[in-house]
Parts: sequence; C-alpha cells; structure tokens
Amino acid sequence: MKQYLDINDIENLPETIKEAIELKKEPFKHKELGKNKTLAMLFFNASLRTRLSTEKAAKNLGMEVMVLNVDSAWNLEFDEGAIMNLGTAEHIKEAAQVLSQYADVIAVRAFPGLVDREQDESEQVLYGFQKYATVPVINMESSTGHPLQALADAISIEELSFKKKPKVVLSWAPHPKALPHAVANSFVQMMQKREVDFFITHPKGYELNPEMVKDVKVYYDQEQALEDADIVYVKNWSSYKEYGKVLNTDNNWMLTKEKVGNAKFMHCLPVRRNVVVEDAVLDSENSIVIQQANNRTYAAQIVLKKMLEEL
Ligand code: CP
Repeated sequence: MKQYLDINDIENLPETIKEAIELKKEPFKHKELGKNKTLAMLFFNASLRTRLSTEKAAKNLGMEVMVLNVDSAWNLEFDEGAIMNLGTAEHIKEAAQVLSQYADVIAVRAFPGLVDREQDESEQVLYGFQKYATVPVINMESSTGHPLQALADAISIEELSFKKKPKVVLSWAPHPKALPHAVANSFVQMMQKREVDFFITHPKGYELNPEMVKDVKVYYDQEQALEDADIVYVKNWSSYKEYGKVLNTDNNWMLTKEKVGNAKFMHCLPVRRNVVVEDAVLDSENSIVIQQANNRTYAAQIVLKKMLEEL
C-alpha cells in the first residue's frame, strides 16, 4: 500500500478486514517487519484514540514512533508561490521532504475549518503532505474523511457476524458544537462497499455531500429509519449545505434505549453523554463502542503492515 488517504486506497477490502481480525489474535507476529522503521505522526488537532491506537499498532509491528503536535512547530505555509512575509515560517515543500528523511511513514491529522467548504474540500494539508512527502502518507482524519475509523468500524461490524446482511442505520444526533463530516463521510463510503442494508437519518438541512451519499436512502423520520435496525451508528455533523452551521440542537434526536431497542450501538468516540446518546445506551450490553475503539489499533496495524511490506 503506497498511501491511505481514503478507503478507496484499500485494494481488497474483505481480505483486509479478515487480515486485521487475524492480526488481533497475534498482534506481535510481524514484529520484525517494522524493525529500524519509523512512523512520524503529525497532529494539527486533538486526539486520544487515533494517537494512541496508531502508536500501539506501529509498536506491535516493531516500528519506532515520533509524534509532533504541530502547534509546537513552525507555522506551515501550503500555498504555492506564497510570499511568506506574514505568519508562516516554513513551506510544506521543505517540511514534507525533511520529514521523509526522518520517517518511513508519515501520518497526519488535520481537521477542517468549517468556514470555507471549497477550502476544506481541497484537503490542503493532507494533499500537501501527499504531494511533497517521498514516503507513504496516512490520513488520521482530514477535512472530509476518517478512513482509519471507517476501517475499524467495518472490522467491528464484521466481528458481530450475527446476520448475513444486517440493517445498518447512520443517525445524526444533536451536539452543541459544529462538528466535521469526516467520520460520517467515511462510514457512508465504507457501508456502500459492505454487504449491509444501509440507511441514513437526519433532520432536514443536515444532508451530507451528495457525492458521498449517492443513492443511499435518507429518512427525515428517525423512528421510521431505526425500525428493525440491527446496528445503529450515531454521529453528529454540522450542516453541509449551510456549511459548518449548527441548525438544530433538538434533543428529540438524542439516541435513547427505547429508540435503539435490540440493535447494537456504535459511535466513534469521544461522545457527549446525555446529549448525543443517553447513559442507558452507552452502559448497556448493546453498546460496542469500546470494542470499536479497540479495533482502531488493528485497522492502523493492517494499514501499516501493508505499507511496510512494500517499503
Ligand atoms: N474516534 C477518534 O478519532 O478518536 P480521537 O479523536 O480521540 O482520535
């Protein structure tokens, strides 16, 4: 694997999911593969799971790991031909090439600004690293996608294996802040590649990018969408149409035990209890959010393994 910017970078998804589940049984089996190899992780934004699960994955493979919180480095410039007489001190051209001397794989987390849709969709940071790095680049959540999360989600659903073609519903839920579309986008892309009956539900005004949703059926009635669901995946996102705006904080959209019923409950975490979902769901046996977070390690590990095999 030369890069993991998007779930479409996975050549054989069913095989990759199977391999990740195998890695989970013997996480240290390929410890020699990463010997004398280094992963550099760059964080433009906060993280708990992505940071630690990716580090654990790399170490399981015998790699060294370096972490850089970008706010403690030089301010980066991404514009071509910029006259750098203002706040930026280093251009991505040098930064990415220099990092490529220090590391064998570079992983980047850079969230959207949620102000300018065109600017966010240009994925300036992620594609800047892709363009100028001379080593493989991993997306640890960009403006528009979170492919490591989506792979962990697919692994988690595969592990449930209680039904041949489960009904999976992605439900929007309220949140006080404007959140990105990345997790929802990648989950939608992933579910379209899996053997599931997939539906989306959200209030009017929260339509995701139609290029992601394609012909997935969308319900504006949450109760109707959740009927007979086997898996309920919950996530908040801000409006795409009125870009980055919070249009609705109606707590009638919060997920309750009654709404989830017998379905398995998924969320990428972190989650605001009793805003997005009530305690009774998260604390129930139907919640698989902890297993889902555990699978972040094996999603990252299978991606790193495939990269190391081609170095
Ligand atoms: N789900 C997820 O990406 O978690 P973090 O933001 O803590 O990394």
